[in-house]
Amino acid sequence: MVKYIPEPFRIKMVENIKMLTREERCDKIREASYNLFRLKGEDVYIDTLTDSGTNAMSSEMWSGLLRGDEAYAGAKSYYRFIQACQDVFGYGFFCPVHQGRAAEKVLFPNFLHPGTYALANLFFDTTRGHVVLSGARALECVCEEAKHPELVAPFKGNMDTARMEQTILEKGPENMGLVVMTLTNNSAGGQPVSMANLREVSRICQKYGIPLCIDAARYAENAMFIKQREAGYADKSIPEIVRECFSYADMFTMSAKKDTLVNMGGVIGIKDPDSPLIPGIKANCISFEGFYTYGGLNGRDLECLAVGLYEGMDESYLTYRLGSIAYLGGRLDELGIPYQKPAGGHGIFLDAQKFYPQIPWYEFPGQVLSVELYKECGIRACDIGSYMMDPDPDTGEAVRSINEFTRLAIPRRVYTQSHFDLAVEAIHNVWQRREELQHGYRIVWGPNVLRHFQATLAPIDA
Ligand code: F0G
Repeated sequence: MVKYIPEPFRIKMVENIKMLTREERCDKIREASYNLFRLKGEDVYIDTLTDSGTNAMSSEMWSGLLRGDEAYAGAKSYYRFIQACQDVFGYGFFCPVHQGRAAEKVLFPNFLHPGTYALANLFFDTTRGHVVLSGARALECVCEEAKHPELVAPFKGNMDTARMEQTILEKGPENMGLVVMTLTNNSAGGQPVSMANLREVSRICQKYGIPLCIDAARYAENAMFIKQREAGYADKSIPEIVRECFSYADMFTMSAKKDTLVNMGGVIGIKDPDSPLIPGIKANCISFEGFYTYGGLNGRDLECLAVGLYEGMDESYLTYRLGSIAYLGGRLDELGIPYQKPAGGHGIFLDAQKFYPQIPWYEFPGQVLSVELYKECGIRACDIGSYMMDPDPDTGEAVRSINEFTRLAIPRRVYTQSHFDLAVEAIHNVWQRREELQHGYRIVWGPNVLRHFQATLAPIDA
């Protein structure tokens, strides 16, 4: 019997939620054109659409709100934020922005343009979107283990460094604008990247003179996995591991809505305080986000960020965090339900193709399973599979994802063991009925970039 790790916090404030009837849920999802993003939050009982910005803040973080200095330029809160960033990451320049994709939008056009490539262990949706919007093309070289959900391996988020180097040589090092390492690797199932892999990627980047950027949304969960799984790190502290990880890169973009435990925020970090990139970053920030000492955030948000950076690295919190996802995985193992193993850092990625081998990838099995879970008990999950992939920007052809996952991304410090147990029950019921469905969905309407947020879908009839 798997054990749940007790929460290292208690609850001070609650938010009421309600469960609609099955009939109501079926109506709601039909009205939402079978796109979970189009549902109203209040019609959801357990919301695992994303772990982004859905965190519960601590009393320390809420206190920070009152300390917020709202000066337009050079606020005290900005300097507290900078001090915390310098302490945690050891870089020379930081720019606050309102969220992760804003960091991508402000940073990427400084070195990505038509004719160039960005190569990653895997991009998440908006990161890929901003590569394409800058005119460049996205290439991916995740390790082979990531493609086999049943396989248990410690670092399934790693880059395949041999293929990375081969790809660089094929495309020409002079055309490689950027290498991105996503920590943890979201699209691969919240799977971690090892320190050894980061070090090797960094060595290759230096050899060919290509800048290395960490997509740092889940840097603390990644550090905890390194501590738990990589030889030589068991006795290192999380801040030490984080420092070492960032030492291998030249820059990072961060959505602070994940491991930094806030509801809104993002950061760009540049290692070299005299980097020639800095004037361009400041200029883009001023145009798109606001003056570079607030970057689209309130002063109070910067205060919360400064506190959250440390809370997110607390070891007892991270033990609970990774342990609670592993609990979900352990319960699924007991029932023989397939998912990307071992459990990731921020959620469970059900192997939807194994649920529905009869439904082809272009009918979106990951979306089918998401809709079934909502109908079953009001859980909102999302497809991390071919529905999430935009059409090829050059040919317009449908793109097949390497896996067809349905992700339950777990908000931090929000749900309890009984919510998890209910989710497992619902997944089990849907698993037992998996042979009843024969067809998936077709897209009725969708934009070409980041379509999964907005698209409308219709069930395919026999
Ligand atoms: N990078 C990664 C790895 C992400 O997971 C996300 C967001 C972003 C960048 C963009 O950050 O949302 O603050 O603009 N991921 C969320 C998710 C939305 O559901 O996984 P953002």
